[in-house]
Amino acid sequence: MYNAFFGFRENPFNLSPDPAFLYRSPQHEEALANLIYGVHSRKGFIVLTGEVGTGKTTMLECLRDYLEAQYIEFAFLFNSRINTEQFFEMIAYDLDLRCSTKSKTEVLFALNHLLIQQANEGRTTVLIVDEAHNLDWDVLEEIRLLGNLENPRLGKLLQIVLAGQPELDHKLDAPNLRQLKQRIVLRCSLTPFSLAECEEYISSRLKKAGMPEQNVFPETVLKEIHLRSQGIPRLINALCDNLLLTAFAVETKVTTLEMLDEVCKDMRLDWPGKRARRPMGLEDSGEAPGYLSPRDQF
Ligand SMILES: Nc1ncnc2c1ncn2[C@@H]1O[C@H](COP(=O)(O)OP(=O)(O)O)[C@@H](O)[C@H]1O
Ligand SMILES: [Mg+2]
Repeated sequence: MYNAFFGFRENPFNLSPDPAFLYRSPQHEEALANLIYGVHSRKGFIVLTGEVGTGKTTMLECLRDYLEAQYIEFAFLFNSRINTEQFFEMIAYDLDLRCSTKSKTEVLFALNHLLIQQANEGRTTVLIVDEAHNLDWDVLEEIRLLGNLENPRLGKLLQIVLAGQPELDHKLDAPNLRQLKQRIVLRCSLTPFSLAECEEYISSRLKKAGMPEQNVFPETVLKEIHLRSQGIPRLINALCDNLLLTAFAVETKVTTLEMLDEVCKDMRLDWPGKRARRPMGLEDSGEAPGYLSPRDQF
């Protein structure tokens, strides 16, 4: 909507996990390197955890791009609220297995055939499961069994990447998943951005959208965006997108704290230190007239 006004080629703060907009923070760089290394190491399970909106799906999309570029076969399950029957159906569909997808035995037979064929050609095969914290115990058990498929000469035949919210770690601590847990070769986790990373992240997205030097978000606004988003990329995107829209509406190319307050109010955003708005007439912020400090706005 505001792209032409700011001179963007595309929306800089789209909420979709698009690898083209990847900001290589040290932890995202490390997570991606781990995912790629883990796939090639052929040793077992790789687990990626992080709070909502920290970039897990984005990492998986980057891994998907890598696997496609390397012609490595993979199944990508992004819906984890499935039963075992649906689980095998989705694997069969993604890996283009020639079998009746209704029968688990047939899917397993065809899968085994594909895995050995790929391994014989020096290639590995990957199963990626996003939102894995939602997986049913039954499906987790099937995944554990798939992780057992092995050939003495070729190593593990299926590399399994599980990504999910921190609850996934707790789930994997369950006694019945002891064996799976023992076979996790790599674990990585994503944490919120620091202030410096948050600023670089915003500049990086703006640059990719066509604004080489950012002057839309002044330093004071950037600091508050970091505080209020708590460094979570998805929230940073939402705040910046709404701020740009607000600025566009009043035809200015520089955002302000007042705009941020309005945006946070509309988003009903909570953050540490946010205080309840005091009744009108009781404000005593000590600020110059016409300006309420962000802390006093709510
Ligand atoms: N390193 C990153 N570079 C670019 N965008 C990112 C990065 N990390 C997160 N994002 C963005 O933040 C939003 C949430 O990321 P997502 O991968 O969906 O998080 P999660 O899967 O952990 O909930 C998306 O819009 C995504 O594009
Ligand atoms: Mg996700």
